[in-house]
Amino acid sequence: MTTSLPELWMAGPLAPDLVADLETRYRIHRGWTIEDPAAYLREHGANIRAIATSGRFGATRERMEQLPALEAIISYGVGYDPIDIDAARELGIPVSNTPGVLDDCVADTALALMLAVSRRISQADRFVRSGAWPTTGFPLGQRMSGKRCGIVGMGNIGRQIAQRAEGFGMQVAYHNRRPRPDAPAQYRYVDDLKTLASESDYLVLVVPGGAATRHMIDADVLAAMPGHAYLINVARGTVVDEAALVRALQDTRIAGAGLDVFEHEPEVPAALLTMDNVVLLPHIASGTHETRQAMADLFTANLDGWFRERRLVTPVV
Ligand code: 8YV
Repeated sequence: MTTSLPELWMAGPLAPDLVADLETRYRIHRGWTIEDPAAYLREHGANIRAIATSGRFGATRERMEQLPALEAIISYGVGYDPIDIDAARELGIPVSNTPGVLDDCVADTALALMLAVSRRISQADRFVRSGAWPTTGFPLGQRMSGKRCGIVGMGNIGRQIAQRAEGFGMQVAYHNRRPRPDAPAQYRYVDDLKTLASESDYLVLVVPGGAATRHMIDADVLAAMPGHAYLINVARGTVVDEAALVRALQDTRIAGAGLDVFEHEPEVPAALLTMDNVVLLPHIASGTHETRQAMADLFTANLDGWFRERRLVTPVV
């Protein structure tokens, strides 16, 4: 007797090892390779019981509605802004993400960007490779130790960034929807974002993406930052008005930026590519072997948990 495998709609290419493992237990429809998903799903959608997606590929209301047997949406990554959570809630579809397991690596990346941009690490590397060292001096950087670290979003990743910043002797202040009751007393809560911006040498963004935080960092907030300050973004590109950031950098109104995320990934504004006072990463904050494995394990625990016992380990909805 053959039992048929539960069917999944995969919204985009997840890690090959993860997909290979899933294929031993699930039948996968590779959504991103299908030219006309609506037509395909009219024919094959009736048996698809879950969407496997990520914080990058998301899930639209339209897709959910094209899947009459949809039971759950399982997402890889902590951020779920491209998943239409309101639609999932209305349709009664539970959604899971992978929180907790990537906090350390994302925080490490924030600190790496802070050091890289203010100590000109990437620029210095380019300088050595260019062969210029024997003939020219290299410009000084700015000290990071002991400076003021303003964190926008004091969630679990924000906490990890704060701890690391303390290790550099930095003074930590933060802005959040509300003060975090379990935050150490020495982390100063600043109710007004512009005030925090004006009082930070590094303004570090780690809020969730989505409509509520879209362009939270706009021209006004950038104008409030001191001229020697750096903007660091390990959150979502949408949190920053990117055109306003480019203008602020072009007009040298801030000292520089360290960016892991962009508004229209993988596109990066051409103007940034020629600036030496920015460090640009291809959205790699969680990109270590250890963390990506932990994310894959938690993703799998959610998916298997759903099909074995109708239980998500880390539900969002
Ligand atoms: C992932 C992320 O790379 O977890 C998140 O929210 O942004 C990253 O860890 C991404 O979600 C996977 O596509």
